Amino acid sequence: MRTVEGKSFGKIILLGEHSVVYGEPAIAIPFPSALITTKISESVGSCQLKCFNYTGDLMLAPESLIGLVELIKEIMKRLKQELNNFDIEIESTIPAERGMGSSAAVAAATARALYAYFDQALSDEELLDLVSISEKIVHGNPSGLDASIVVLEKPLYYIKGQAFEQFDFNLDAYLLVADTGEKGNTKFAVSSVKDFVDRDEKGKMYVSDLGQLVIDARKVFNDHDEIGLGNIMNKVQANLKALGVSNETLDKLVSVALANGALGAKLTGGGLGGCMIALMKSEADAKKVSQALLANGAKNTWITEMKSEGVK
Ligand code: PMV
Repeated sequence: MRTVEGKSFGKIILLGEHSVVYGEPAIAIPFPSALITTKISESVGSCQLKCFNYTGDLMLAPESLIGLVELIKEIMKRLKQELNNFDIEIESTIPAERGMGSSAAVAAATARALYAYFDQALSDEELLDLVSISEKIVHGNPSGLDASIVVLEKPLYYIKGQAFEQFDFNLDAYLLVADTGEKGNTKFAVSSVKDFVDRDEKGKMYVSDLGQLVIDARKVFNDHDEIGLGNIMNKVQANLKALGVSNETLDKLVSVALANGALGAKLTGGGLGGCMIALMKSEADAKKVSQALLANGAKNTWITEMKSEGVK
C-alpha cells in the first residue's frame, strides 16, 4: 500500500499581529515545534479523513473543517483526480487554535502531500494560492502572513500584498513561547478589532502605533539590542490590550514573565487565548521564567535562541 507524507509547521508572530491586517508590517518566525504531518494512503472507496477532531468520510466532516475540505476539493480539481481510493491522516504536535498558525500549516502539509501522492510538482506560488483559499474560509479576512510563512519557512518581515522579505537576526537572547491552554479565536478577534477601528479613532491610533513599533524593531534587531526589543514587546502588548485582544490569562502570564526577569512579554497571534511569548537575556533566565509560567497555569512552554538560523 502506497503512503506519501507532506509536512509543514506553524509560526510565531514576534510583532505586528492585528495591525498587519491593516497594511502595517509584522515580523514572524517559523516554529518547528508546531509540526503538522499529512499522510495520504492508497485505499478503496470514498476518501476517509482522520485528524485531531474527526474520523470519518471527508465529505461528512464537520463545519469546523470546511476550510480543509474546500482546499482538498480544489486540489483534486486542479490535479484532475477523483476524490476516492485514498485516505488522509493529519497529525499535529500542537493543539489547534493557539495562535501558531496551525490552520495554514495543515493546509500546506495537505497540499504538499496530495501533490506528492499524484506525482505533481507544487510551486511556491501555487502553494501560497492554495493555502490562502483555506485561510480565507477559516479566518475571514486574513492578512496572508500565516500563508506566506508556511511557504517561505524562514523568518519574515511581512507587509500585506508585498513580496516575501526574509528577515535575518542574531540577538544574544532567548525566546520563550507559552501555551495558555485556552483556545484563541482569531476570526472573532480580527472582527472585533475591525469594529473598534471602524467606530473609534483610538482604534486607528493603536493600529498605527503597532505598525510604528514594528518599524522601530527593525532598527533594534540591526543594533542587536535585546533590551530595546523587550521594551517594544511591552509597548506592543499594551496596544493589543487596548485593542481588546488580550484577556485575563494572557495578562497574568505576561506579568509573571516580567516579574521573573523577562525583558519583554506579549501575546502572540490572534489573542483572546492561545499563546504568549517572552524574551530573556540568558537560557537560565528563560528556564526560570518557564518554571514560573508553568506554576501559574501555562500548559506548555518552548524555548528557542533568538537567531534566525536557530529557528529554522
Ligand atoms: O492566530 P493566528 O496564528 O492565526 O494569527 C493571527 C494573526 C492576525 O494578525 C491577528 C490575523 C492575520 O490574518 O494576520
